[in-house]
Amino acid sequence: MKTYAVIGYGGRGSLYARLLNGRGDFTLTAVCDINPDKLDKAVRDTGISRDKTFTDPEKFFAAGKQADALVLSTMDRTHYAYAIRALNSGYDLLLEKPIAESAEECRAIYELCRKLNRKVEVCHVLRYSPFYALIKQKIDGGELGKVVTVTQTENVGWYHQAHSFVRGNWGNSEKSSPMILQKCCHDMDILYYLIGKDCKAVSSFGSLTYFTRDNAPEGSADYCFMCPCADECIFNCMNLYKKSGAANGFLFLTDYYGDADDNAAIERHFSDKNNRFARCVYKCDNDVVDHQVTNLLFDDGVTAQLTMTAFSAEITRVIKVHLTKGEIVGDMGTNTLTFTPFGGEKEVVDVSAFTAGLAGHGGGDARLVDDFAALLEGKDAQILTDIGKSLMSHQMCYAAEESRRNGGKTVLL
Ligand SMILES: NC(=O)c1ccc[n+]([C@@H]2O[C@H](COP(=O)([O-])OP(=O)(O)OC[C@H]3O[C@@H](n4cnc5c(N)ncnc54)[C@H](O)[C@@H]3O)[C@@H](O)[C@H]2O)c1
Repeated sequence: MKTYAVIGYGGRGSLYARLLNGRGDFTLTAVCDINPDKLDKAVRDTGISRDKTFTDPEKFFAAGKQADALVLSTMDRTHYAYAIRALNSGYDLLLEKPIAESAEECRAIYELCRKLNRKVEVCHVLRYSPFYALIKQKIDGGELGKVVTVTQTENVGWYHQAHSFVRGNWGNSEKSSPMILQKCCHDMDILYYLIGKDCKAVSSFGSLTYFTRDNAPEGSADYCFMCPCADECIFNCMNLYKKSGAANGFLFLTDYYGDADDNAAIERHFSDKNNRFARCVYKCDNDVVDHQVTNLLFDDGVTAQLTMTAFSAEITRVIKVHLTKGEIVGDMGTNTLTFTPFGGEKEVVDVSAFTAGLAGHGGGDARLVDDFAALLEGKDAQILTDIGKSLMSHQMCYAAEESRRNGGKTVLL
């Protein structure tokens, strides 16, 4: 039996607690969150005793090591300081991405972890998804030749962008992280993982074009519940979050603890100026990009291109891998893969047809947790996302942001 603690009992922290508790061989021994409502939720969800909950991170760390491992799932800007404190306190870590705000901070966590001989897995969940695992397996099998170039599109989705990257946690890069780090560190990590070579150079363009005051409908109000344009607006929160509204599934992120199907309660929840998700999408404090394209050069001349866009109907990642003897095309949203050897028969694989449990990043969330658990228990673990394996893709993100901010100039790694 192993023990774990959670700091940051939000969407991710509560998910990991559910998955670890569900295994039966892990016990939650402490939870810290600055929001007391989240601690109430932790008590309800897990049955943890109230005296094992902390609203003050200082007190949490001052209490010393309270478990074998710590799930670190607070907001991005706290990761570095908390990771250093947690390692020094003796915890192994399940560390949410992004690791930290800079390459130097990432390296400092990595070096401390190696020095103290601690285990640190970064939540690059896509590596554990059967969808990407199959692509990796096919590439490494060699029958399609060598990878020459890869294109990946991160279709963020119009309402997901509005929820998370305009109104929500990650809209303002000063408060959280730039989009290329926050959202696309997964994509960079997958490109690096599949290509299997070091990245040498990066250039990137992107901007915030649409979710700005210039695009607000004439006469619109600052909040949907008082807006004369609400009926025609696809971003009207009243409809977006209601039952069968496009963003209804995102309600758990909005500090709404009611019934996701209760439209009257949802309407009351969003009729409040203190609710940031009630704000007009064109009048928020967001500054992160809504589209960005990045070119990457790897060792041996291998190239990759990543497009991130808010402007997609579906939330999905689409990938095309061009190899010397064939190509791989995949859509993670539909979990379909097509392997085509040049001059040969096309093989179409429906990933969902032969493996269950594809919820949560295509099944990556649950598989990551199982692997972390195996690592802690000293069992056979794949250890796909050890912090040492995550440094390069974070560097690729920092370089892309530097390039974007400098008009697309090439940044060498
Ligand atoms: N691996 C993934 O695919 C993935 C997906 C989404 C988010 N994330 C990352 O996970 C982290 C958490 O995201 P989330 O979606 O769970 O957000 P969230 O807002 O739902 O949860 C964050 C929680 O941390 C708490 N918190 C904030 N500051 C704190 C502090 N100083 N000390 C203690 N608690 C604090 C908040 O009250 C909140 O409950 C972020 O870094 C995010 O980038 C990763």
